[in-house]
Amino acid sequence: MGRNLKRVIADEGLDRRATGYYSTPSFVSDYIAKRLYQIRSDAKIALDPCVGMGEMTSALGRETKKIGIDILDMNPLSVDEFINEDFLELAGNELVGSLFGQPLPNADIIIANPPYNCHETEYIRKNKKRLQEIFGKHTTLNMYSLFLSAIIRVAKPNTAIGLIVHDSFLTARGHEALRKLILSECEIHYLHLCPSDLFRNQGADVRTCILILTKGIKKNNEVFISPRPSSKEELQRILTVGEFQSVARDKLCLIGDADRSEFLINAPPELIELFSEPRLGEMFPCITGISTGFDKKYISKTQSEEFAYPFYKNPGSRRFFSNPDGYMVSKFLDISKVIPNFIVRNKNYLFKEGISCSSMGVAFGAAILPKDATFGVNANIIVDESEKWWLLAYLNSSLCTYLVRSILLRSNMITAGYVSRIPLPNISASTRTELAGLSKKAYNEKVSPKEATLYIRSIDQVLFRDLSISEDTQNEIHRFCSDVIKNT
Ligand SMILES: C[S@@+](CC[C@H](N)C(=O)[O-])C[C@H]1O[C@@H](n2cnc3c(N)ncnc32)[C@H](O)[C@@H]1O
Repeated sequence: MGRNLKRVIADEGLDRRATGYYSTPSFVSDYIAKRLYQIRSDAKIALDPCVGMGEMTSALGRETKKIGIDILDMNPLSVDEFINEDFLELAGNELVGSLFGQPLPNADIIIANPPYNCHETEYIRKNKKRLQEIFGKHTTLNMYSLFLSAIIRVAKPNTAIGLIVHDSFLTARGHEALRKLILSECEIHYLHLCPSDLFRNQGADVRTCILILTKGIKKNNEVFISPRPSSKEELQRILTVGEFQSVARDKLCLIGDADRSEFLINAPPELIELFSEPRLGEMFPCITGISTGFDKKYISKTQSEEFAYPFYKNPGSRRFFSNPDGYMVSKFLDISKVIPNFIVRNKNYLFKEGISCSSMGVAFGAAILPKDATFGVNANIIVDESEKWWLLAYLNSSLCTYLVRSILLRSNMITAGYVSRIPLPNISASTRTELAGLSKKAYNEKVSPKEATLYIRSIDQVLFRDLSISEDTQNEIHRFCSDVIKNT
């Protein structure tokens, strides 16, 4: 019955993007329910604050009273009580101690699949001021993070919380405060990355995770985690057989001074240790350059007297060697003095040589930035001839791809801030020479992205040998890099 209803509503044009409505697959609801009962076998009251059609509450046992909240009444059949209200409104009232409105149920279990609108919605725009006053400035980036903050904050001590939720909060800079809220308020039991095809049959390519928490910190507990599987079927298998890695809670996040409590998923300890080495930004300036505000006008495809300077803005999939992305207007410094959104940053590094790193796209790579060129708002490293070649090899290595994409930032653009946090392992002088030889050759041959992979393989071998990276860790790096897009 529930399933028919779901199909009918979807067929009638339930706008998933507008409502953020994506139904939780039943094996996920079942898994979350099982874990929640392991924590609270005595659970009398369960709350789903965005219950939809009751996809999650239907996995809970009869002995638990199931209360659902939703702004849309979709006749959630598996609930004992339905509250047709805005959960954020009710949570806000509760947090400010308002006597108005319906009080939130005193739940032993909170189970939820918060709305997936991953950017600021109309709702947030309209209510931003109040939401920020109540839930904190950092919370209004998107609906799911707002829900997550609200759920954690209103949960009573010992409430078991089970969520399937967008996972950009694990590493994105904007969600640092949310990570800290989770870490300071909750015991974390399970964290499983979900495959990007989990909601694909509903038209969404969204990266999610399953998170099982208890409100309140009791001890430095073990956390069970699993990396992103390649498919829905693989997730189901992993959850069924319990193929998890156990991590001590104090090893769950990056904790260095330069770090922002990024969650570590499956990262081998020997790679986490590299984060105690100096960071790239401590050794070399790692900067952004020019944003014109109107590239079509100020950057030409061909070089001429009027557009004299090669301009690099994102090597993308090109590694080692990249042609310029265009030619910058020769009078750019004069123009920046009169056009407010034509901005030239880091003028003291203008025309210096170095390395230009990719910013967009999931893969991370780097190419030579020649002398007398200009660069955009991607990350650029100013480094001279004596150091740039080994560094170029390192930045293009699978090891570096892993450090950047599996640890530092799983989502969004790799900005100069992230590149400056890349650890620089202690590589011996002879290995640096070997690495430099490889990247110089790749550069001189102007390798295609496909040919670059052969050089990367050799670079990996040289680096793994010098850093004594264990075979298990090499396998983990290769596993991740074999499909960076799927695995991030
Ligand atoms: C991703 S769907 C989850 C539906 C269902 N619980 C499931 O797990 O399949 C998110 C639900 O959140 C609801 N929602 C969005 N904003 C809400 C709000 N402010 N308060 C309560 N529910 C909200 C939507 O109507 C939608 O039903």
